[in-house]
Amino acid sequence: MLTGVEHSEPETVEYWEHRYREKDRLWSGRPNDALVATVGGLPPGHALDLGCGEGGDALWLAENGWRVTAVDVTPTAVGRAREAELSCAGIDAPVDWVLADLSTWEPSDRYDLVSACFLHSPLEFRRAQVIGRAASAVSSGGYVLVVGHATAPPWATRHAHGEHRFLTPEEELRGLDLDAAEWETSVCEVRPRRAAGPTGEVVTLEDAVVLLRRR
Ligand SMILES: C[S@@+](CC[C@H](N)C(=O)[O-])C[C@H]1O[C@@H](n2cnc3c(N)ncnc32)[C@H](O)[C@@H]1O
Repeated sequence: MLTGVEHSEPETVEYWEHRYREKDRLWSGRPNDALVATVGGLPPGHALDLGCGEGGDALWLAENGWRVTAVDVTPTAVGRAREAELSCAGIDAPVDWVLADLSTWEPSDRYDLVSACFLHSPLEFRRAQVIGRAASAVSSGGYVLVVGHATAPPWATRHAHGEHRFLTPEEELRGLDLDAAEWETSVCEVRPRRAAGPTGEVVTLEDAVVLLRRR
């Protein structure tokens, strides 16, 4: 299912469309390392992927038995994700791709996992509020996974990242402000990740990984 972009700020769609259209493919297509490591052992249920981009995480979840709802504001990214799904083998339930602005989108279902991997934007974006709203739709025993950049990549320029404040996992956790009586913290740590830079050089990056379980 591909819906129209619901209630979105034109500059949000414009910015991200421009980013995606600059390249045939913006991201690796591989699932996030922390997602695979933390969710790989969980029994599959209904997952919500926030800011799914070109669908690497959503498709990995679907291939691993999850029923997936994946939301992103960028038509080009969601179009690529849908196309990638066509060449995936062994998906029981098609991914429900939702083209919507998460700033206003309201979950209408219950989830066993909410995943927000690199849900970063240089534009005004109330990320913690968006994740919190999705977390309120997580069933008892379900999880919220948040993965962010803990430090700038070595190739980042001050121009591109100078204003961005990279959150430690502890800051991320505090910012989410989920009720500790209701949520237990399963993971809150920096994890190293090997990745290829823009010129193919292999570097170690640091991700802030937070996994919470609803009691
Ligand atoms: C850094 S990318 C990460 C994409 C993907 N999660 C991944 O790890 O490859 C951030 C994504 O968030 C999406 N995004 C940014 N602001 C959004 C908003 N307000 N509503 C929905 N999606 C948004 C962008 O279109 C982009 O695909």
